[in-house]
Amino acid sequence: MSTTAKLRPGVAVPVLDITANGGAALFTEMQDAFSQLEHEPLRCVLMESLDAEQASMHMIAEGFAGFLEYCQPIEMRRQFFCSYQRTNNSAMSVEGLANRMTAEAEQKVNSDPAKALALFRAAGRMNRVADEDLGVGGQTLHFELFYRMATEFCGGDDQWQCRQYCLSVAAEFKSWLDAMRLRSPILVGLYSLLVHEGYTHAELGTIEAPFRRWAMNDLGLAEHDARRVLAWVSVHNGGTEKNHFAHSCASLAHYLEGSGEQIDLQVAGETFRKYFRMKGTVMARLSEMYSLKHRKAS
Ligand SMILES: [Fe+2]
Ligand SMILES: [Fe+2]
Repeated sequence: MSTTAKLRPGVAVPVLDITANGGAALFTEMQDAFSQLEHEPLRCVLMESLDAEQASMHMIAEGFAGFLEYCQPIEMRRQFFCSYQRTNNSAMSVEGLANRMTAEAEQKVNSDPAKALALFRAAGRMNRVADEDLGVGGQTLHFELFYRMATEFCGGDDQWQCRQYCLSVAAEFKSWLDAMRLRSPILVGLYSLLVHEGYTHAELGTIEAPFRRWAMNDLGLAEHDARRVLAWVSVHNGGTEKNHFAHSCASLAHYLEGSGEQIDLQVAGETFRKYFRMKGTVMARLSEMYSLKHRKAS
């Protein structure tokens, strides 16, 4: 797949989506989110990690583009949505990380109230990252929106939730991300937040239009039905994930103030790159499976 922008007839600017522009679309959108980080050395490491993982970006783009190339058999769709969910839904570990921050804050309430306040504020900004996922404010839980999308795209039943459909590399990715937030030092959990929120801003922004085209052209849905089924994707767009990235940056700044810890740029870079590589591995494994099925079918 070409990574150069393909201009569509009558469209003056390149359409930035994952099937038209591949890894380059992800790259550009992530830069857009990452540029909000004020901590310059860490921002440079984020950008360098992104630059160093272009092969992962291409694997991810190929993974989506291959899936959307034609109407996959139901079994394949189940595997896709079950595995994809493991790489994306992480609100529980966001809240777990916030809990760890408030526990640290409680220990400083009497001895150092200013630092305790900074830690509570770090946890507060972390809470804001998960508000939409958890339906705070009365919106539909994102878990429900994903369930609706995957179930409708898997022929109307929810067998896709069965763990037999989850690729082992997707389960490993989820376990790794959870461990970064729940067992590693809190700062490492924050690095994982930064890369995840910036990445999801790019991914969901660049898959929305291709998924809509696929739903309409390959699955035969009317446009309003395609939009309804794809609500899980669209609710993350229009600045939602970019705001989550900004909340993660603010949480980091408060946490540094409250904990007195220092950023380790090497550990941060390793976390960023591992995130991209693990996501790339999941999407590459899915790509292999589509081509295998394709060969069998032809
Ligand atoms: Fe969400
Ligand atoms: Fe988010």
